[in-house]
Amino acid sequence: MNNKRHYTLNDDNSSSSYSLPLLSGSLGPDVVDMRSLYRESGLFAFDPGFTSTASCASKITYIDGEAGILLYRGYPIEQLAESCSFLEVCYLLLYGDLPNEDELDGFVHRVTYHTLLHDQLNYFLKGFRRDAHPMAIMVGVVGALSAFYHDALDINSQEDRDLSAIRIIAKIPTIIAMTYKYSIGLPFLFPRNDLGYVENFMRMMFGNPCEEYRQNPVLVRALDRILVLHADHEQNASTSTVRLAGSSGANPYACLTSGIACLWGPAHGGANEAVLNMLQEIGDSSNIGQYIEKAKDKNDPFRLMGFGHRVYKNYDPRAKLIRQTCHEVLDELGLKDDPLFKLAMELERIALEDDYFIDKKLYPNVDFYSGIVLKALGVPSNMFTAMFAMGRSVGWIAHWDEMIADPEQKIGRPRQLYTGEPRRNVEPIAVRKHH
Ligand code: CMC
Repeated sequence: MNNKRHYTLNDDNSSSSYSLPLLSGSLGPDVVDMRSLYRESGLFAFDPGFTSTASCASKITYIDGEAGILLYRGYPIEQLAESCSFLEVCYLLLYGDLPNEDELDGFVHRVTYHTLLHDQLNYFLKGFRRDAHPMAIMVGVVGALSAFYHDALDINSQEDRDLSAIRIIAKIPTIIAMTYKYSIGLPFLFPRNDLGYVENFMRMMFGNPCEEYRQNPVLVRALDRILVLHADHEQNASTSTVRLAGSSGANPYACLTSGIACLWGPAHGGANEAVLNMLQEIGDSSNIGQYIEKAKDKNDPFRLMGFGHRVYKNYDPRAKLIRQTCHEVLDELGLKDDPLFKLAMELERIALEDDYFIDKKLYPNVDFYSGIVLKALGVPSNMFTAMFAMGRSVGWIAHWDEMIADPEQKIGRPRQLYTGEPRRNVEPIAVRKHH
């Protein structure tokens, strides 16, 4: 970061001015370094929703929302989705470079041999109601991991942080599959070390102990790609939540849990489930017009789920790749005429021709087609957000690790614009007014 240039803020009232350093990254807009603002001027910056605030410096992921560009460690998402497996991408996000063959073998081995859960966790999971939402179980069980793996919780040790990262990437698929099996009353399947990451998950999720599970390479590839596309997205709400939780020195499992809780909301990772529910509600292409009107109506809280993004003001590059995967999966399963997929494509076509969506630059985002692929794979819609969490876990832990290793790291402690009552005195209860 270079900081030779400055930005001057002028206060019209006091005719004071403050000169703040400008910092440049390797790509993207420059930032005004506000760290000395309060000390020098007594002013705070006000930016609820962080629409203009860079909350940290990071080397992991870059997004150009205007151009629809997404890079992990400098590599375009299209190339990674085409050429790399999810575990290669995990290595890249965690360690900064793509692995060579030996490095990948070593990494895959480590992840594979950490997929098994402490046996006591099975009993813990069985304490939940069978109809609990999978994300409610995820919040509980991932948080509980810190009670089971406290042998490596020294956050100042690079070795411990690395082991926690491997455990998280390895164990989350096992937890998700167990959550599903529990909800449908079938026995858990143990992970198998002779299978790849996605094959292992597919078997734990959809197999049963009575017979061999037959893998379908097209479906394995599709899920692998979904995980690659969800692996990181710079300072999104859940990643920022993980960083904020971690800034106090909390353990990595507790931090991941805060990310999972944030992801659950419908404006974030909950959108993939919401898209499918919306398509089912629309039901038929003849109803699309009516739903587009609802989405445009300011007095109606309905929004077109899977459309719009805080950063992308262009087609989300992940949505393009997922749409292509959607075609491949539906072709493979003989579902080319899937009514939901047809409805989604028609809805996309109509929305993209509508002035409201054009003017506000609202394009399909990653969640628009991912639900259709996941549904075709056999994943129930209430598990879609858990699948998003499976991909994003590596991003969360990579950001957490980057933050802890940063010598400039401080506890995240935003300030506020107070708009409540000014100072007042407590009155005796007998004379207090009725409100
Ligand atoms: N349908 C209808 N209108 C919309 C939509 C939508 N999906 N998204 C944004 N708008 C309108 C919004 O009403 C606002 O209009 P106006 O300027 O007249 O008030 C304008 O577009 C800007 O929207 P915003 O809410 O100020 O933008 P934001 O950056 O705060 O919100 C968003 C981004 C993703 C929360 C929002 O676009 C949205 O709610 N989309 C639907 C939910 C969704 O698909 N979420 C997944 C996001 S991508 C994956 C992830 O992050 O998990």
